[in-house]
Amino acid sequence: MEPKLHRRVQRYGWDMAVQDYDQYFVPLLRHCSERCLALLDLQPGERVLDVATGTGIAAFLAAEIVGPEGAVVATDISQRMVDATRAEAERRGIVNMQCEREDAEELSHADASFAAVSCVLGLMYPADPQRAIAQMQRVLRPGGRAAVAVWGRRDRCGWASIFPIVDSRVESDVCPLFFQLGAPGALSYAFQKAGFVDLHEERVDRPLCFAGERDVLAAVFAGGPVALAYSKFSPETREAAHREFLESISEYRRGDGYEVPGEFVFMLARKPVLSEAEGL
Ligand SMILES: C[S@@+](CC[C@H](N)C(=O)[O-])C[C@H]1O[C@@H](n2cnc3c(N)ncnc32)[C@H](O)[C@@H]1O
Repeated sequence: MEPKLHRRVQRYGWDMAVQDYDQYFVPLLRHCSERCLALLDLQPGERVLDVATGTGIAAFLAAEIVGPEGAVVATDISQRMVDATRAEAERRGIVNMQCEREDAEELSHADASFAAVSCVLGLMYPADPQRAIAQMQRVLRPGGRAAVAVWGRRDRCGWASIFPIVDSRVESDVCPLFFQLGAPGALSYAFQKAGFVDLHEERVDRPLCFAGERDVLAAVFAGGPVALAYSKFSPETREAAHREFLESISEYRRGDGYEVPGEFVFMLARKPVLSEAEGL
């Protein structure tokens, strides 16, 4: 897919997904934000950028840790995600957090303006993830840290059939490179290529537990990356896609619910200080 179109599909697709994502996926994916923040080891007073913030899980956690002397900028390509995060920050009376619509590939912030950057389950979506990683490196100050999480290998993510099921009903692949950074060593390679050092990569299995059919269907069809394509399906097409998907995860049925395997990869990396970058 042409990159400009890819970005529009992401932007407007996630606009449609906000509510279902927040309701059905966020409780299952919160652990990724918690792990990224633990890896970052943020300190009070630090300035943090959260890329692809969604409804802001990592950003809210970071705002609490860095405190009133620190600041968090929460960014996302979807205006509705940004609006939802900003509304929640206002509701909670959080004053050290700013929310902005920004493409991860074209961050507007100055070079070396953050002590830490997080990007939780966001790097599967930019048209050019390597460019997004280079942007994170650019906005970090020397010595600054980046922590990211991505989905792991396709065959370890029990819900991965959603892509061929939706792709077979639309004209182009929805997220053809979704699992590319989940391959062993792929994140490390990408971060090293962008000039990061002290790379730490870890891989974690954690199932997604859904209460029943309604929840799993709402999450994967309406609350994720296929939301835009799904919104255009007729009722008959939806019904057929639902049936095919439920059949594909039938082995993970537990009583009324589902326990669907999920694999996640985490990376912590550091931007070198000048003497390291110059090989001194
Ligand atoms: C799976 S959600 C993750 C949200 C949040 N970080 C979390 O852990 O819940 C992916 C997010 O990436 C955003 N996204 C997709 N492409 C993006 C891009 N090129 N730049 C910034 N955000 C992007 C989407 O709008 C969506 O909010």
